[in-house]
Amino acid sequence: MTERTTLYLHARHAVGEVSPRIFGGFLEHMGRAVYGGLYDPESRHADADGTRGDVLEALRELRMTVMRYPGGNFVSGYHWRDGVGPRDRRPTVRELAWQSIEPNRFGTDEFIRLCRKLDWQPMLAVNLGTGTPEEARDWVEYCNSPVGTRNADLRAANGSAEPHAVPLWCLGNEMDGFWQLGHVPAKQYALRARQAAQLMKACDRSIETVACGTSHPEMPSFLKWDRAVLQRLGELADYISLHRYVGNYDDDSREYLALSKSIDRQIESVDACARYVQQRLKLLRRAYLSFDEWNVWYRTFDLAKLDGQGKFAPPLIEERYNLEDALVVGQFLMSFIRHADSVKIANFSQVVNVIAPLLTLGDELLKQSIYYAFRMFSSRRGGVSLRCPVDGPSYASERHGEVPCLDCAAVLDGTKLHVFAVNRHLDGPLELAVDFAGADIAQVADAEILCADLKAENSFESPDEVRPETFDGWSVSGPTGNAAAMLPAHSLVATSFELAG
Ligand code: AHR
Repeated sequence: MTERTTLYLHARHAVGEVSPRIFGGFLEHMGRAVYGGLYDPESRHADADGTRGDVLEALRELRMTVMRYPGGNFVSGYHWRDGVGPRDRRPTVRELAWQSIEPNRFGTDEFIRLCRKLDWQPMLAVNLGTGTPEEARDWVEYCNSPVGTRNADLRAANGSAEPHAVPLWCLGNEMDGFWQLGHVPAKQYALRARQAAQLMKACDRSIETVACGTSHPEMPSFLKWDRAVLQRLGELADYISLHRYVGNYDDDSREYLALSKSIDRQIESVDACARYVQQRLKLLRRAYLSFDEWNVWYRTFDLAKLDGQGKFAPPLIEERYNLEDALVVGQFLMSFIRHADSVKIANFSQVVNVIAPLLTLGDELLKQSIYYAFRMFSSRRGGVSLRCPVDGPSYASERHGEVPCLDCAAVLDGTKLHVFAVNRHLDGPLELAVDFAGADIAQVADAEILCADLKAENSFESPDEVRPETFDGWSVSGPTGNAAAMLPAHSLVATSFELAG
């Protein structure tokens, strides 16, 4: 017997507008992400700026909206002045977060040029590990002030008379973590972040800031840290950050595909914390959530693999991804959509070579399974997230409790309805019926499916093992306006329906 899940949607039961910024990325000076990834003047794909055209082309297709830079852990030892001005005068320095060599050939102005090419909003992280609040302020002036003062004039001398207009600024990175250069307890971090935010906002009142939240929900200080930081920063923090890397450590795919429930919980707990602080401090504005690092990362998560051994652009954490990882990536995005009222920014970590959807090998480029999962969502980005009650089979996960076999999200975009679903069932297909109150579903505008062997992965030799195909399994049942389809075991299906006018 086929088991059916019904997804009950109502046009008026909206969670909130899906922020385009949840389709962001993250580029760190780490391993071969910048050098040998995006920036490689030696490559036959290099353009006049030294950036790789093939990588840019592939990223353009992902339609990312915002790009976080330059770290990550890297930023806690980074001094932005090292990365501006004539290249031959920029210092080569020892990079201590990843034990690598940083020649500073790529810096602020190169990054901004890249953002302009790809239509990304820049999101810069300042150094609150070994840097000072004043250095952070000066960077805002360099990027955002009109000419006429020291740092803005420096930018003009470096070729950009017009301000870079950077709207988003992270107040450090993972400062709760013992591994972070300059790590301090919450109180001290909050003091530094407060000073920095005050100076930065005094320099440009339009900027938005992201305070460091806890770097992982398993950290002992989870929520305590977040509350302490938000209470001390008040309205100086427009957002609080969340990070999360997950993996199938026990090779238990049932559990792995259930963990999106814990992503929901992580978001809901930090959201509750932000609301709590708003009420306690009687603030007019609350801090929203910036999920500014997220992905699957576990195969290469080991200390030996995090050490660049004093080399320039050493290959670090070049994770290979299979189908089940792509399903989990889809589940992250579904969770962000379901929490559209609180998650306003999210950055897929990272973009190339380092735990990334893209891998380069010499002049070759590989699109990994997770690349396609992200694209299936970002090409259906606009609209309002709808509540997603489902009625159907579920299973008991040891770690995450009862989870529905189908994980769903839905977005209403004018006369289009986007429905996303992951079938967590490992052995059999499941039927999904979409019951939409509000308008009739007239037809399928387009639908794609990502499905293969659970462990299948793309490689340079065999690049098309996991890639989306057109899904033609939907039947739309005329005047009742509902739609139903059989979703194959362990698959991701993304569909845009046309609604009757
Ligand atoms: O993305 C790799 C690293 O993971 C980042 O530098 C850090 O912020 C996180 O721990």
